[in-house]
Amino acid sequence: MIILKSPSEIEKMKAPCCIVAEVLDLLKEAAQPGITTLFLDRLAERETVSRKAKSAFKGYSGYPFTLCCSVNEQVVHGMPSDRVLLEGDILSLDFGVIFGGFYGDAAVTLPIGNVSKKALDLITATEQSLYAAIDAARVGNKLTDISYAVQSYVEERGYSVVRDFVGHGIGRNLHESPQVPNFGAPGRGVVLKSGMVLAIEPMINEKGADVKVLSDGWTAVTCDNSLSAHFEHTVAITPFGPEILTQI
Ligand code: MF3
Ligand code: CO
Repeated sequence: MIILKSPSEIEKMKAPCCIVAEVLDLLKEAAQPGITTLFLDRLAERETVSRKAKSAFKGYSGYPFTLCCSVNEQVVHGMPSDRVLLEGDILSLDFGVIFGGFYGDAAVTLPIGNVSKKALDLITATEQSLYAAIDAARVGNKLTDISYAVQSYVEERGYSVVRDFVGHGIGRNLHESPQVPNFGAPGRGVVLKSGMVLAIEPMINEKGADVKVLSDGWTAVTCDNSLSAHFEHTVAITPFGPEILTQI
């Protein structure tokens, strides 16, 4: 069942989503060569608490951290550690909070210092595929119009879409119906309605689509070791078009 949000509930969702956007902005500045991913996790935790919010991820299915930090061939759910970020790495940061009873969830992929053109191109295409997907999140469209927007955008550029993880509805729960795949033919699935709030999150690989989860039980990596990027926004579908909530 898809839980529709009233205009006032969407207003209330702006608070957690704005916190997510603000903290990700701080993390972007902090993510430099020489910094560890655990340092970024501590910074995210501190900034979350100081805004009277709670991490959406810590304790979720036993996940022990506030942030997911996925480096290079890591796709999603990389765990913060004493790994030092190096010039040329790409780092995806996934972060969510709950505040006032509602969740917000977003992710970005950042270049660490100067990175290769192929890394930067992957990051740019992944971010642009998210915006193409958001543009399809309109009343009257079908759910897989969002999916198709991502897939067609990235496959035209030679990249591949991760199938094993999907976006999701979001609200009083981190994960609500519907699942939002990043692949599939257009014009399928539920009709998009005003009041749906979706976390749209393309995960795009430089080469093959296949991923596997490491023995830590969390970290997803590409099977062929190629680079992977991830962007996510929490988006409300309104009569006036898609509204990105996780943007300051
Ligand atoms: N953005 C991811 C999601 O929506 C983050 C989940 S990580 C977890 O599924 F640690 F909370 F599982
Ligand atoms: Co999410």
